Amino acid sequence: MSSILVAAIDFGTTFSGYAFSFLHDYTKDPLKISANTWTAGVGNLVSLKTSTCVLFDSTQTFHSFGYEAEEKYSNLALDDEHHDWYYFKRFKMMLYNKMGLTREALLEDEKGKQMEAMKVFSSVIGYLKDHMWTTCENQLSGIQDSDITWVLTVPAIWNDSSKQFMREAAEKVGICANKLMIALEPEAASLYCMHQPIQKDTENSTFGVFKSGQKYMVVDAGGGTIDITVHEVQENGTLKELHKANGGDWGGTKVDESFKSLLADIVGNDVMEAFGSIHKYDFLEFLTDFEVKKRTIHPKLAEKVTFKVPISLLETYRETNPGNNIKTAITSKSKYKNKLTWTGDKLRMDAEITKALFDESCKKIVDHLKQLFRHSIVKDVSSILLVGGFAESPMLQVAIKEAFKNKKVIVPQDAGLAVLKGAVLYGHKPKTISARVCKYTYGVGTTMNFDSAIHLKSKKIIKNDTELCSDIFSIHVSVGQLVKVGEPQVSQNYTVINPKSTSIGFNIYTSNDKEPTYTTEEGCTRLGYLTLDMPDTTKGMDRGASVHMTFSGTEIVVTAVDKDDPEKIVSTTVDFLG
Ligand SMILES: Nc1ncnc2c1ncn2[C@@H]1O[C@H](COP(=O)(O)OP(=O)(O)OP(=O)(O)O)[C@@H](O)[C@H]1O
Ligand SMILES: *[C@@H]1O[C@H](CO)[C@@H](O)[C@H](O)[C@H]1NC(C)=O
Ligand SMILES: *[C@@H]1O[C@H](CO)[C@@H](O)[C@H](O)[C@H]1NC(C)=O
Ligand SMILES: *[C@@H]1O[C@H](CO)[C@@H](O)[C@H](O)[C@H]1NC(C)=O
Ligand SMILES: *[C@@H]1O[C@H](CO)[C@@H](O)[C@H](O)[C@H]1NC(C)=O
Ligand SMILES: [Mg+2]
Repeated sequence: MSSILVAAIDFGTTFSGYAFSFLHDYTKDPLKISANTWTAGVGNLVSLKTSTCVLFDSTQTFHSFGYEAEEKYSNLALDDEHHDWYYFKRFKMMLYNKMGLTREALLEDEKGKQMEAMKVFSSVIGYLKDHMWTTCENQLSGIQDSDITWVLTVPAIWNDSSKQFMREAAEKVGICANKLMIALEPEAASLYCMHQPIQKDTENSTFGVFKSGQKYMVVDAGGGTIDITVHEVQENGTLKELHKANGGDWGGTKVDESFKSLLADIVGNDVMEAFGSIHKYDFLEFLTDFEVKKRTIHPKLAEKVTFKVPISLLETYRETNPGNNIKTAITSKSKYKNKLTWTGDKLRMDAEITKALFDESCKKIVDHLKQLFRHSIVKDVSSILLVGGFAESPMLQVAIKEAFKNKKVIVPQDAGLAVLKGAVLYGHKPKTISARVCKYTYGVGTTMNFDSAIHLKSKKIIKNDTELCSDIFSIHVSVGQLVKVGEPQVSQNYTVINPKSTSIGFNIYTSNDKEPTYTTEEGCTRLGYLTLDMPDTTKGMDRGASVHMTFSGTEIVVTAVDKDDPEKIVSTTVDFLG
């Protein structure tokens, strides 16, 4: 599906944006990608992504997104009129590692008020889509909705339910199902790096990693997740995944959390909470200020760092702890004594304490990468491509370079935009990723004839005088298995079990185990349900479908045809949110 225009939405934990490019430009210069510039009023930050904050009024009607929402909410808070509004920030993490996710899932806002998560996510996608149409009207004149392929990015470490949730959120705002692609964030970043202009075929070129046969690791360090994939360049220039996508939730916001914990350690959790809810405006401004300071922290830093702390925080402290003062609160804690001073609205921190705010996330990332390099297939990977906004932090860069002295660590220009721009490239040419590695073992739950030599007695059931074994995990693909993109991994024939049934259905399971026997084993999870529609019952029991399942795409795809007529398509539904 070659579209005239590819538009991508990078829905990040902390920052989001969109970008697009025309097919005719792409063929001449793949990096000719347009993106909107967003301006934050506070601090006059200009960037190609805006903050992932969304505001709804008291009737749950969408009001604003991004820096605009942040400012509006802050102003409402100043007038103490924010209580009935719904304000969501950093809510993408809700979809990370969420078990039993459903379409009806609720999301809690800043004040614990609930709203349907689907509505929140789809409003954001709808806003970015409409924003592109209105802001880029001139560039897009003559373009129709149907000329566009949309790409939505998700972390590669997300499970299939979360990916489906994002897809449905996008379809709700009018993005046509067959015009929508899901791209995996580190893969998109990998494609972006591949297209960097500096890529030359010389030994010392930075991007010499993109020669055939080369292997490299892409580490997408975002605000929420650290998302890792390992690629090998094939002879025809496509990329093959070498190890299943992996990572964790140790992104840049962990640093913000460390900072908040440090403050709470001094003034108390109750004071921090009261400050955050009563002095909303000050609190938000304080966090924005930290975000700016955070970017200036580097390993060689030796001077004290000064943070401007709202006076209302000290006031809250005095109200809650009458008679105490902040000086004694600090000196009474040996770890802060002589390392931290707090006078008036100035908090001054020793370089060591400030740098230590990065320790937890950097350590977790480094430890994880060390584990990863122990795998035989990853061992000889010699380059690490560091992308994502957090990759721009000198603290993280140095931590990784120090820990992996024998590896080449590359941080491309615009590391924070690699995912967004790479998603556009992916939309033009998804086949650039030619093989992936299965993240789980996938299969369906079935029954088979009972064999006392191998089956557990407890699994025996008797039907129509036959002994059957229930809960069998019928494996389709195994974790770690290399699967080729563009071809189905499983072809199977299924028949109806009842002459009157109008569908054939299966539970789909995943397992972390290579060879699970039963769907009830530890590590197995019911992922969802597959339905094959068989509405015409005239042939009774003599009905069935020939089913193809593809596990090598960014989403699981199931197609089916009638067992007696390959021209007759059987409609299928894969539901991971039921
Ligand atoms: N120069 C910098 N120094 C330190 N941290 C930075 C810098 N630039 C960005 N960050 C941090 O990087 C994070 C944002 O990165 P990015 O925009 O890639 O995340 P995201 O796409 O919103 O999140 P995710 O991919 O996890 O959903 C924030 O925590 C931000 O504070
Ligand atoms: C490439 O590296 C070699 C030594 O490894 C050096 O002599 C040469 O000048 C370098 N070339 C460029 C263009 O930097
Ligand atoms: C590139 O090569 C790989 C490995 O040989 C193959 O699987 C893939 O289909 C090829 N892709 C293209 C676009 O030629
Ligand atoms: C039950 O078993 C009998 C004999 O084995 C067989 O003829 C019949 O078709 C079976 N019925 C069903 C519903 O499987
Ligand atoms: C499924 O049935 C078709 C004919 O309907 C046959 O050609 C094919 O080999 C069967 N596949 C399997 C896996 O049994
Ligand atoms: Mg990101």
